[in-house]
Amino acid sequence: MNVDIHNHILWGLDDGAQCPEDTLALAKDAVQNGITHVIATPHHKDGKYENPAPLILQKTDEANRLLKEHVIPLTIFPGMELHLYGDILRDFRAAERTLLTMNETQLYVLIELPCDHVPAYTYRLLFDMQVEGYLPIIAHPERNQEICERPIILHRMVEEGAFAQLTAASVIGQFGSRLQNISRKLIEHDLIHFIASDAHHVTKRGFALQAAYEWINRNIGEQYTHFFRENACLVLAGKDIIAPPPRSFEPKKKRKKFFGLF
Ligand SMILES: [Fe+2]
Repeated sequence: MNVDIHNHILWGLDDGAQCPEDTLALAKDAVQNGITHVIATPHHKDGKYENPAPLILQKTDEANRLLKEHVIPLTIFPGMELHLYGDILRDFRAAERTLLTMNETQLYVLIELPCDHVPAYTYRLLFDMQVEGYLPIIAHPERNQEICERPIILHRMVEEGAFAQLTAASVIGQFGSRLQNISRKLIEHDLIHFIASDAHHVTKRGFALQAAYEWINRNIGEQYTHFFRENACLVLAGKDIIAPPPRSFEPKKKRKKFFGLF
């Protein structure tokens, strides 16, 4: 079982797949990457796209029927990439359901930060979400300008209970060496819990998950790949993930690596 927890495989909802053919092409790419299950995460509330829960659920069913017709061994589960906004909890509480947790487990929520900064209310919101039983996963923190410059920001979020997901393309250097270097640094400080594709289009932004795991095996350590793969399965199942304590950026307070025993 190999799970991808962040992609835009559902057609006609955002800047990912535009038509059923795009979805089929992405699904074949996923299978070639060894992926058996995906949680589809269309954009929601990012200022451009609004994809309320009922629409995503309906589209997930349609896409699964399409894959079955074409005998593609991939199953899609519903989720969303929820852009950070102040009323997330109000909307989770509302009788009319517009927001989705990952695979509707009422546990994990994929959160997208703005790309250029981290709003002041972020820490409080991430904390309040956890008080209400939701576990935030920060999507591609390496693509946030402020975190890139000051990774300590992500360190605080993770220390306070949030999780984080790197994009496979960042890991293998498709977005340049700067993002690759920061990706490595975040992994080595035990600030990352998942690698995911964020696939949008088969030729422009495909799955690349296999290549990312191979890169991590070669350059950081196979134990991380096992840990990332396992965590993606646990999110799909709505179970507790493996989360080592983050390593400090301050050299004097250096703590032993979580995987130092291996
Ligand atoms: Fe995304």
